[in-house]
Amino acid sequence: MRGLFITFEGIDGAGKSTHIEPMAAQLRAAGHAVHVTREPGGTPLAERLRELLLHEPMDALTEALLVFAARRDHVQQVIEPALARGDMVLCDRFTDATFAYQGAGRGFDREVLKTLESWVHAQLQPDLTFWFDLSAEQAAQRLAAARTPDRFEQQDTAFFQRVREGYRARAEAFPLRFVRIDASADRDAVGRQVFAALEDRRW
Ligand SMILES: Nc1ncnc2c1ncn2[C@@H]1O[C@H](COP(=O)(O)OP(=O)(O)OP(=O)(O)O)[C@@H](O)[C@H]1O
Ligand SMILES: [Mg+2]
Repeated sequence: MRGLFITFEGIDGAGKSTHIEPMAAQLRAAGHAVHVTREPGGTPLAERLRELLLHEPMDALTEALLVFAARRDHVQQVIEPALARGDMVLCDRFTDATFAYQGAGRGFDREVLKTLESWVHAQLQPDLTFWFDLSAEQAAQRLAAARTPDRFEQQDTAFFQRVREGYRARAEAFPLRFVRIDASADRDAVGRQVFAALEDRRW
């Protein structure tokens, strides 16, 4: 049987990486084979493209093309083979992030993004998407305490507000696969929301 594809989305600092490993551990304990991965990245080539995306200045089309080039490699080399084996794949960001960051954040043409999506993964969509929803201000406070900002994290609050609205639009467009998580709660409360969504599905 084909595996399940679960994605973790939300603005920088919302808590995706905090919750992905505990969720993988829970699913493994329930007997699932689980592969944890991230975007951009997840293969040696895509990780090299990630470094360029996070640190080199570039125009919006170049950025979109590199994101989808990395995704093509990742889908082909890692995600599809894992799903075909029956593994669960937990992925920290996927194409919703491209619509939120490059589309809503940078104002890049969404029709072009849809075309690139149809080239790179026309058939593949997540079975479930956790949207860690947090205000831009709260996310910035958490990140300020945590690490040196990359090229995206250096953007101003208005940029992250647009990205958040981009995620909201995606959640409204795909209500069946999106689960909104109130990421403003403390870690344990956020974790409980994530586990509850799995229990609802008996995964
Ligand atoms: N519920 C929470 N309450 C307070 N702090 C939190 C909470 N969840 C995560 N954090 C802290 O906030 C910071 C950002 O969390 P995390 O790295 O999980 O976010 P992220 O969504 O993966 O961000 P990015 O997109 O930048 O990778 C970390 O320092 C983490 O420890
Ligand atoms: Mg992270």
